[in-house]
Amino acid sequence: MNFIAQILALLFSLSSLSSSSDACHNDKTLIRSSFSVDLIHRDSVFSPFYNSSLSRSQIIMKAARRSVSRIKHFRDRTGGGGNGAVITPNRGDYLMKMFMGTPLVELHAAADTGSDLVWVPCLPCGGCDPQNAFDPAKSSTFMVLTCDSQPCASLPRHSCGNSNQCRYFYKYGDQSFSTGDLATDTINFGNAVSSPSTVIGCGHDNQFEDNTGIAGLGGGPLSLISQLGDQIRHKFSYCLLPFSSNTNSKLKFGDEATTSSSPNNDDAIVSTPLFTKTPTTFYYVNLEGVTVGHKTVQTGQTGGNIVIDSGTTLTVLESGFYSELRDAVREAVGVEPVTNPPDPLDLCFRYESEMGEGLEFVLHFTNADMRLHSGNMFSIEDDLLCLLVIPSDSISILGNIAQINFQVAFDLAEQKVSFAPADCTAI
Ligand SMILES: *[C@@H]1O[C@H](CO)[C@@H](O)[C@H](O)[C@H]1NC(C)=O
Repeated sequence: MNFIAQILALLFSLSSLSSSSDACHNDKTLIRSSFSVDLIHRDSVFSPFYNSSLSRSQIIMKAARRSVSRIKHFRDRTGGGGNGAVITPNRGDYLMKMFMGTPLVELHAAADTGSDLVWVPCLPCGGCDPQNAFDPAKSSTFMVLTCDSQPCASLPRHSCGNSNQCRYFYKYGDQSFSTGDLATDTINFGNAVSSPSTVIGCGHDNQFEDNTGIAGLGGGPLSLISQLGDQIRHKFSYCLLPFSSNTNSKLKFGDEATTSSSPNNDDAIVSTPLFTKTPTTFYYVNLEGVTVGHKTVQTGQTGGNIVIDSGTTLTVLESGFYSELRDAVREAVGVEPVTNPPDPLDLCFRYESEMGEGLEFVLHFTNADMRLHSGNMFSIEDDLLCLLVIPSDSISILGNIAQINFQVAFDLAEQKVSFAPADCTAI
């Protein structure tokens, strides 16, 4: 550790308002306490998974279907679906570039607010492309954690290897999985921002559709956010752009992770309390109601009923409330919906010019009204105008299209989330 880093580390520990009780991150040093990284939409031209032969409408429908497999993940983890070992079955829509090891190696990991562990495909590996895997033998800072270590005990499911190493096992709702050694190594976010001895999963056996790892940004003890903890003052934010944008979205950590607004527009920033539930992974807020046009439908709930997630494409609402909202949307649009909307969408109208434009759509969170643009709720595909909300019997999720062109800032020390409308290309 160099001298400046030591001074900064000292300043951070003195100025930290809350000291974490989690033993996983007592030796972390960040060279800076505030930094940002690019979030690359997996279907954008900047993505390693970009497929130029997919049409816009194919991309939307593919993403919509990913939402459905994600509902299964949330249901399994929140509703007694086992011991908490089932985590997200897909990696979400936004990737972050990070560097790992000594010397540093570039990797892409899905930025996932719906899971905790940071893991990467590791050599030697089954079910991964060796070209995109991390080789722990080549990193001088890589260290396997033992089975009796504190981080090992924080895993939903683990076992002990032959040499007493901690082995994690994550099984996903759709039968895919990752298993390997729990370890520590340096993670670097570019711009000389480095976090040594970060707990990571080194996945030797992974069954997945592509070759990225996951950067878990959830609320549990092993997530990147919890591990960076005090250094980023328990704050992060993102400002999401659609896949069709010609710039990347931003994920910010620390003091940069605040909402801002133009001077004349101060009331545009709103904040709502976060609710902690078990598992602590998910970021719950409370949706009191939704206004569509001139009609407001109420949930009548107060205790935290919807998860904010950057990795689910569509917004998902509990079926009873959804059907009231569906009626309100139908009334506001003023025409009959089509009888066979493309799966998994539920409410589409034969598109006519300007349909849905200017329709007021407000999400009423506790103490916070989020005023959406029509593009946050509707998509025009071919000749259909479709609502980007679907029902679920088990869980409500504020998906990422609904959050596009908002700064969404999480302050976990203050237990709140703030929203501010923004042009995310300018953030
Ligand atoms: C790209 O999309 C086309 C059309 O759906 C598909 O046939 C092809 O397999 C995809 N390519 C890759 C590399 O996924």
